Amino acid sequence: MTCIIDLDPATAETLHQALGADTLVLASFEVLRRHLDVHLGEDAVVVGPTVDLHTALTLAEQMRVSRPSLAVVLVRRRVDTSVLTDALRAGMFEVVDERDLAGLTTAVRRARDLARKLRETTGSSPSGEEHRPRGTLVTVFSAKGGCGKTTLATNLAAALADRGRREVCLVDLDLAFGDVAIALQLFPAHTIADAVPLAETLDIQAVSSLLTPHSAGLTTLVAPIEPGTAESIPASLISRVLDVLKRNYDYVVVDTPPAFDDHVLAAFDQSDMVALLATLDIPALKNLKLTLETLDLLNYPREKWRLVLNRADSKVGLALNEVEKTLKAPIIAQIPSSRDVPASINRGVPIVLDDPKHPVSLAIKAFAERYIVAAGGGEDEVPSDLRTDRRGLLRRRARVL
Ligand SMILES: Nc1ncnc2c1ncn2[C@@H]1O[C@H](COP(=O)(O)OP(=O)(O)OP(=O)(O)O)[C@@H](O)[C@H]1O
Ligand SMILES: [Mg+2]
Repeated sequence: MTCIIDLDPATAETLHQALGADTLVLASFEVLRRHLDVHLGEDAVVVGPTVDLHTALTLAEQMRVSRPSLAVVLVRRRVDTSVLTDALRAGMFEVVDERDLAGLTTAVRRARDLARKLRETTGSSPSGEEHRPRGTLVTVFSAKGGCGKTTLATNLAAALADRGRREVCLVDLDLAFGDVAIALQLFPAHTIADAVPLAETLDIQAVSSLLTPHSAGLTTLVAPIEPGTAESIPASLISRVLDVLKRNYDYVVVDTPPAFDDHVLAAFDQSDMVALLATLDIPALKNLKLTLETLDLLNYPREKWRLVLNRADSKVGLALNEVEKTLKAPIIAQIPSSRDVPASINRGVPIVLDDPKHPVSLAIKAFAERYIVAAGGGEDEVPSDLRTDRRGLLRRRARVL
């Protein structure tokens, strides 16, 4: 992938538009450095015209030594002999005039080709996957529709990314009616359905080409546009995609449909934690209780459960302690009800980014930090021989739900 760094969002967006979907805009050098530390397979960094020359040259000098396969491309408002000489000395890959967007595209394409050839000759991994600890995968689930899964998943992903502090990928597994793209006002060039023809060669390079970036630290893999496409996506492909993402992101957050389908089960198998959502109404609580019993029956480790109550302050005559007694499990997070939530979805901006001090944002951020980040991830995936058994059992159980 190619990173773009520019201090002016409008300029960064122009460069992003010119270079296409397989690029990521990063808002600061600090974020860029952290990103490069984690993503060892990056091909190129485009340094925009508002970044001062000295900083850009220092980056190129450092990368020439520490990451020879990474090309630094410099974009300037004016390209004169002095800039070209300095850039050459620093080991800059190419200098391009800001108005020459076609030249920039060609430079980045050349940089990518060169990086690929360098990797082929040195035999190094395209993604640096083997150097990186696995990220944490959190699946957001509730067996009843409309409980707030998409609301929690989008906001949890944004809270974990924390404006670029961490690298997060949000995956929309609601393959028939996914609305992550709408909730985040994205215009994706690709969806998860485009992974099907890539199945044989599914590495981070291939998966990255399907992602739609949202904001610093947060990217997305959105659901197909056509509802009927879901059947053509095998669950095994979902497992592979999630596995690749886990190896390359700090956190992977998965939004789900309100059903235990094969795709959701594949996500459960890969999950380090499952955020199980309910609201204070009897059908939602009944479904959560059945879900928990099912997970218990399957020996799905209770340490992975994270019970979350959405619209927790609704005055509906159900007390929290009664709910916990019925569920036989503690509710660890409560998200209040607020009309600002649908308003933020209509604006296409997660409320944790739009209004970080809002009670809903504070609740989701506290949940993210205390029960996801502080709890750490884990390598303890479900062994593959158990997965098939679990699927059969879960499917039988799902018919009851
Ligand atoms: N805490 C909240 N306060 C007010 N409204 C909320 C809250 N959480 C969710 N909503 C609203 O409830 C509706 C359903 O939320 P959401 O789409 O997140 O649910 P879902 O579980 O993803 O639904 P589905 O099962 O259809 O995918 C949305 O209109 C959303 O704005
Ligand atoms: Mg949803």
